[in-house]
Amino acid sequence: MNVSPSIISSKLEFLHDQISRSVRAGACSFHLDIMDGNFVPNLTMGPDFISAVRRSTDLELDAHMMIVNPEKYWKVFSKSGCDLFYFHYETPFNFKKVREEITDENKKIGIVINPDTPPERITDLLPEIHKVLVMSVYPGFSGQKFIPKSLEKIRFLRKYIDDNRLSCKIEVDGGIDDITGAEVKKSGADIIVSASYIYGGVIEERIEKLRNL
Ligand code: DX5
Ligand code: ZN
Repeated sequence: MNVSPSIISSKLEFLHDQISRSVRAGACSFHLDIMDGNFVPNLTMGPDFISAVRRSTDLELDAHMMIVNPEKYWKVFSKSGCDLFYFHYETPFNFKKVREEITDENKKIGIVINPDTPPERITDLLPEIHKVLVMSVYPGFSGQKFIPKSLEKIRFLRKYIDDNRLSCKIEVDGGIDDITGAEVKKSGADIIVSASYIYGGVIEERIEKLRNL
């Protein structure tokens, strides 16, 4: 299983060290939870913080934009070094335009769906994006409990992507540990995001456990 640590739960006073240990343990990318206090009731990182992450690793940096007006701000995060931009389906933006702009910058686009958004809504976007992110908690905070009905959504997307021979990857975000991660894997996900499980224990052991699910 591919593991994308969300550094929001890492010990930020040791950011560089926490990132290096995650890389050595076999992380495939890093997940950046960007929250603006409007789209979700929490505030996290901004562009300068992300530049510091960029200086600590060459791995892919995925911007999970839980912000109002992502269409305006993805460029700022791109300058900070993000490689992929997750746009929430639930927030208004011009898909065609941002897809074109992001592709022109040789970067990647993903779509993220909240727990209440049916995956059927985004099937026509799947051929045009690199990754789809299924939220298995309501966005805003790490450390929440996995929502089991997400598994049906993963199975639906897996079947659709396989039946149509698409290259889009399925990533799952929220409440992932060794138990829920195994169910997510069985349902057909390609990548799992994890914050509190990985950084709430010995990083190497936790990443290893998730990779070997
Ligand atoms: C929630 C974020 C998640 C979160 C995951 O708004 O999008 O990425 O940090 O945290 P855990 O793994 O602790 O559920
Ligand atoms: Zn996230």
